[in-house]
Amino acid sequence: MSSERPSVELCKGIYGLDKVVLREIRGTSAEVYLYGGQVTSWKNDHGEELLFLSSKAVFKPPKAIRGGIPICFPQFGSHGTLEQHGFARNKLWSIDTDPPPFPTNSSSKAFIDLILKSSDEDFKLWPHSYEFRLRVALGPGGDLMLTSRIRNTNTDGKPFTFTFAYHTYFLVSDISEVRVEGLETLDYLDNLRERERFTEQGDAITFEGEVDKVYVSTPTKIAILDHEKKRTFVLRKDGLPDAVVWNPWDRKAKAIPDLGDDDYKHMLCVEAAAVEKPITLKPGEEWRGRQELSAVPSSYCSGQLDPQKVLHGS
Ligand code: BG6
Repeated sequence: MSSERPSVELCKGIYGLDKVVLREIRGTSAEVYLYGGQVTSWKNDHGEELLFLSSKAVFKPPKAIRGGIPICFPQFGSHGTLEQHGFARNKLWSIDTDPPPFPTNSSSKAFIDLILKSSDEDFKLWPHSYEFRLRVALGPGGDLMLTSRIRNTNTDGKPFTFTFAYHTYFLVSDISEVRVEGLETLDYLDNLRERERFTEQGDAITFEGEVDKVYVSTPTKIAILDHEKKRTFVLRKDGLPDAVVWNPWDRKAKAIPDLGDDDYKHMLCVEAAAVEKPITLKPGEEWRGRQELSAVPSSYCSGQLDPQKVLHGS
């Protein structure tokens, strides 16, 4: 359904949770839950869903929603003292009615600003004061842009350190027919082998089994090609040096209660992240991390994202 002008609507979603629906003129849309500050839907101008959301997703706090774009903060993964992927994804965010000026010259009119601040509850686990501002914007062409601004508001003079990821679940027609371009020949930490470091070989990445890798210091552009759908997702990132690639495959999928047994065939997580080198902010300092997604016909960029060429121009 195309609307005449961009719109931003606050309404009730599953389990009565507040959600914001962004709509652009050509009919593209996105949905953001205040719970987790989590994008759960992104649709193109044909109304086709582009993000995976598990059929068994639980929209009941404190369980994180399985699918869309969970925010991992202040800890990515299980390396650290906090719960897996930190607490931001299972907190209730607020609408930020008066965000500080945004320096980007984006022409987007369909956007929402959310904010998460430290609470007494979090303070016991992570004794720091912070303000996390998230802007979710839908561009006029349907691109989905997420910008995070995290500020250290500690009054005790102490810095804090965090890791981060936009844990994006892309919806794909068949994982066996998907390839990822832009990460070949790069180093990665293999989460399936106690984060040992390896170098990716050869050609574009394809999928034949479980994968859980943190590619480090990647180029800013990564493409996910869905052969069957003839669709390519282009992920652009800024301030986020790493990229996590995750698919649980059949055995692990069965062990995840909020994931259907065959769901792994239709999802691929490619996550713009800062994992290898944690980010440290002194009081008053702000960090910014941005991810921009677009979905284009597949002929667009196959073979053009060889990281060696992108990084070294050869
Ligand atoms: C990925 C991690 O980002 O998220 C995996 O690399 C993890 O190790 C996966 O299994 C899912 O995590 P969770 O906590 O949402 O089940």
